[in-house]
Amino acid sequence: MAERLLRGRLLSFRRRPEGPEDTAAFDYIEDGALLLRGGQIAARGDFAAVRRKAPEAPVTDHRPHLILPGFIDPHIHFPQLQVVASWGAELLDWLETYTFPAEAAYADPAHAQAMADPFLDRLVEHGTTTAAVYCSSHACSAEALFAAAERRGMRLIAGKVMMDRNCPEGVRDTAQASYDDSKALIGRWHGRRRLGYAISPRFSVTSSAEQLEAAGALAAEHPDCHRQTHISENHAEIAAVKRLFPDARDYLDTYERAGLLGPQLLLGHCLHLEPREIARIAETGARAVFCPTSNLFLGSGLFDRAGLEGAGVTTAVATDIGGGTSWSMLDTLAEGYKALALRGERLHPFETFHWATRGNAEALGLVDRIGTLDEGTEADLVVLDPFATPAMRLRMDRAETLAEELFVLQVMGGRAAVAATYVDGIPVT
Ligand code: GUN
Ligand code: ZN
Repeated sequence: MAERLLRGRLLSFRRRPEGPEDTAAFDYIEDGALLLRGGQIAARGDFAAVRRKAPEAPVTDHRPHLILPGFIDPHIHFPQLQVVASWGAELLDWLETYTFPAEAAYADPAHAQAMADPFLDRLVEHGTTTAAVYCSSHACSAEALFAAAERRGMRLIAGKVMMDRNCPEGVRDTAQASYDDSKALIGRWHGRRRLGYAISPRFSVTSSAEQLEAAGALAAEHPDCHRQTHISENHAEIAAVKRLFPDARDYLDTYERAGLLGPQLLLGHCLHLEPREIARIAETGARAVFCPTSNLFLGSGLFDRAGLEGAGVTTAVATDIGGGTSWSMLDTLAEGYKALALRGERLHPFETFHWATRGNAEALGLVDRIGTLDEGTEADLVVLDPFATPAMRLRMDRAETLAEELFVLQVMGGRAAVAATYVDGIPVT
């Protein structure tokens, strides 16, 4: 089996850092090496030690760059790659004016197929190796994305959105059709190679109670599938859900009654939750996914990370392209820092780099496979160059610690800082 040895500075987290001093939360190896074999990390350690295990393996020398686990984006929309940067709207207008028309085009399998590789190319060029993806409501959009990801050996979670009301006919399905299509997609793609299915009712504005029940039935029939939806992003959205579900205790209850809560559920946004909702999310283990560039761009609100985590909620951080404005998890963390700063939090770079790698892997229940550089896990990697631009080089002249260097990457790096991305042990950028 082909082997490859990567040399560089290695950074991988063992657990979530408690703060700036918590250097025991990660492994950092200055002259490190990874031995890649068959799409896995076969060995990790000091270069000299790993070299002894594979004296013949070809070496790719990434020094002085940093090698990290590939970034994980746990909330992104495939049919919105041409929606990014749409001007002047809040959530519900933005959906109506820009998003639903763009998604309607994915009824055509040829369009979905033509967009799948450009979508996955954008992920890997920004160092993202796994994502949890909303496709359009058309089964062919999920077909196209899964097929493209399979050809690349990518680990990907995706699902067709279910949406049976309050949207144009071109993106509308029915409770029964969305059940049938999702079920068929699960049968074809879930657990195939590195692919997983996410049951994806879009949100309670566009799903009837009957459709949410169909999603809950799928979740009960396929408990190892992920589930993903949106909640409590925007005040007009929350008011609409209250009108549409007058008997529900709150927004979360519309999902709870359908049996959708649990650790497999990824809840996008979670900006304006009520105390009961926070308590139930914590109790059931559902994940709260922070989408900072989207929240700022659509003027949706400020995520209360400290409050949610203090209540025992597991959080994740994501781009939410195309409400989000950058494909880069580095940019996402940079905006996340600013959004949290408006709430008085100063998130340390050890915490943010943990969040985008191991933290998101834990939120997806995949940390045994991705999100670290541990031996035996999958060889999805990003190589970061802190000297990528003239402005970064100037700033790096005054950086003395690893934490400073990481913060420069986070705040200034973006796409430019991604020197290489490996998927399944193969360099892809
Ligand atoms: N709520 C329902 N659908 C969407 C979407 O596509 N993007 C965002 N940001 N919020 C949503
Ligand atoms: Zn979204």
